[in-house]
Amino acid sequence: MSERTLVLIKPDGVARGLTGEILRRIEAKGYTIAELKKVQASSEQLAAHYAEHEGKPFYQPLVDFMLSGPVVAAILEGERVIEGFRSLAGTTDPTTAAPGTIRGDLGRDWGEKVQKNLVHGSDSVESAEREIGIWFS
Ligand code: PPS
Repeated sequence: MSERTLVLIKPDGVARGLTGEILRRIEAKGYTIAELKKVQASSEQLAAHYAEHEGKPFYQPLVDFMLSGPVVAAILEGERVIEGFRSLAGTTDPTTAAPGTIRGDLGRDWGEKVQKNLVHGSDSVESAEREIGIWFS
């Protein structure tokens, strides 16, 4: 069954000129980019998007980072695309993410408090539909 997922190329990915490389990997894997746009996120969007993390120590640094520049938002379609994109992205920590993944090949720690890990991908069907509503309403 085909699924949809919400992908964000975070401000570090856009600022470093990696948008094309990240989209290339998504297309090379065979997923369809159904919608695509570059946007400056609002505080309201980010509060909704990261609501489950409110109160965690990384919440405010993460929101501030996501406000620091434009992001590219995409809806991907394909069989098991939620799991598939998260596998393409690699684990959260870019320093130790596996080589071959987006974060593992293109990300690293930069000695800052905020973890810049290039991309976000929804983690479930329910999250994907909720997040698509936030970014493509
Ligand atoms: S948790 O608590 O296990 O659910 O957290 P995790 O899945 O590892 O991360 C959730 C999102 O928070 C981001 N994160 C951070 N961003 C900036 N700085 C720090 N220190 C940090 N720690 C976690 C992480 O990249 C996840 O973001 P998204 O956009 O969902 O990928």
